[in-house]
Amino acid sequence: MDKTASIYVAGHRGLVGSAIVRNLRAAGFSNIVTRTHAELDLTDERATRGFFEAEKPEYVFMAAAKVGGIVANNTYPAQFIRDNLAIQTNVIHAAHLAGVTRLLFLGSSCIYPKLAAQPMREDALLTGPLEPTNRPYALAKIAGIEMCWSYNREYGTKFLAAMPTNLYGPGDNYHPTNSHVIPALLRKFHEAKLRGDATVTVWGSGTPRREFMYSDDMADACVFLMNLPDIRYQALLGSDENQSGRFEPPLVNIGTGTDVTIAELAQLVRQTTGFTGDIVFDASKPDGTPRKLMDVSLLTQTGWRARTPLAQGLCDAYAEFQQSESGKT
Ligand SMILES: NC(=O)c1ccc[n+]([C@@H]2O[C@H](COP(=O)([O-])OP(=O)(O)OC[C@H]3O[C@@H](n4cnc5c(N)ncnc54)[C@H](OP(=O)(O)O)[C@@H]3O)[C@@H](O)[C@H]2O)c1
Repeated sequence: MDKTASIYVAGHRGLVGSAIVRNLRAAGFSNIVTRTHAELDLTDERATRGFFEAEKPEYVFMAAAKVGGIVANNTYPAQFIRDNLAIQTNVIHAAHLAGVTRLLFLGSSCIYPKLAAQPMREDALLTGPLEPTNRPYALAKIAGIEMCWSYNREYGTKFLAAMPTNLYGPGDNYHPTNSHVIPALLRKFHEAKLRGDATVTVWGSGTPRREFMYSDDMADACVFLMNLPDIRYQALLGSDENQSGRFEPPLVNIGTGTDVTIAELAQLVRQTTGFTGDIVFDASKPDGTPRKLMDVSLLTQTGWRARTPLAQGLCDAYAEFQQSESGKT
């Protein structure tokens, strides 16, 4: 990407979008186009088309989505499938009409089957049933991958889908009940420290293994992919199955390639927050799937690797959390 190229980051105020904007700014990209949800509702087809016609961005990072935890996904399944299908359909089609040079569509590891072999490779897509709690969301994301693939086949576009693992970092959602595991644990241990509690109870047995990536690393991977020379970028776009006979969607996993147990994570969060009490595991609560790890061989082959160790990322995230909490008082 040229430093003056017009780059649209959809969802720039979210965890993922804000990290991409930080990365682009730090790298000297000067023409970053953003719109808040209030300024441009991407479920509105006419407004989305009008925006693309007027701005004509050359590159698009698709980090706008209706996102939520298990409770939200279970409570609003219709909104999750409808909004995400609408957002991505409008953006992908408008990007094609506006002649966007490259588009990076972001999804998540929930697109892979519930019982996919670990670590999960890109070719595990569509090989088995999905986790039912977020199936509407996951199916919308799978449709987004298929749209990128279909538009590439029919119109010769260069749309790539990237699936990041679990993320954490600045601007994360620290809601006490509706947040992902890292922000939830940081808040829990932080508040236990302030109250002087003797113990913190962590749900489940502590044995499941999970992968976590710092959002700034993920953003670095996204910008790296978008910047790849044509021949290497083209290689990630897979192939037309009708011609190659191979199932090769334009899909790449983004992760660290390593995982930790929830017990190890809790221990790291305890150290990070300075909580001095004990950790108790409540094994009566569900554990979920025993392991969820992305296979990142394809990404690694491009020459990119995650840089931020979990312990350091947790310290940075905790510092930002404390800062945002002190701003509230
Ligand atoms: N967080 C993770 O751990 C994680 C992991 C893997 C993949 N991802 C993927 O990354 C993408 C972004 O996730 P995130 O965690 O950054 O989510 P997020 O923090 O909730 O941000 C989503 C952004 O999209 C915007 N948005 C939602 N609906 C919109 C609409 N109709 N029109 C315009 N903007 C809209 C939101 O604006 P408002 O807040 O104003 O609605 C927000 O800025 C998703 O595709 C997700 O699957 C996330």
